Amino acid sequence: MIYKKAIQQISDILSKNEKDCIQHVVDFLQSSFESYSWVGIYLVKNSILQLGPWAGPQATEHTKIPIGYGVCGAAAESGRIENVADVQSDKRYLSCFLSTRSEIVVPIVYNDEVLGEIDIDSDASHAFSKKDEVFLKIVADMLSKHICTC
Ligand code: SME
Repeated sequence: MIYKKAIQQISDILSKNEKDCIQHVVDFLQSSFESYSWVGIYLVKNSILQLGPWAGPQATEHTKIPIGYGVCGAAAESGRIENVADVQSDKRYLSCFLSTRSEIVVPIVYNDEVLGEIDIDSDASHAFSKKDEVFLKIVADMLSKHICTC
């Protein structure tokens, strides 16, 4: 999937403003990019990351993650993208799936406040490039406008 085309399609999904549109975006990402094995959105509620819509072969037991804990919690704390090329070499990593080799976490920020994040696990190591970072930051910005008006 070409990033530019994907952004257009995500924009179309969100513009419909349907109740489940964030789930549709998650489904779209997971089914359109081969290396995006598992895609989830965590939302900050009461200072804890809580799992929202997700798509992938199996559910994760990590449905609530304290800020500052794991790779997800680190990204929420700093507001910066975490791109972990080899999860086994990152001491912060909380394992969800045995097949995961790399992970990217992209904060969803609105007015300097972290509302949540996009978390993607890949079964391939070094799966996420700078282009994925730029693309997913655009997606996170699109989602932030949507989440903050919900
Ligand atoms: N690996 C994450 C936990 C979430 S699962 O990947 C879905 C972490 O280290 O925070």
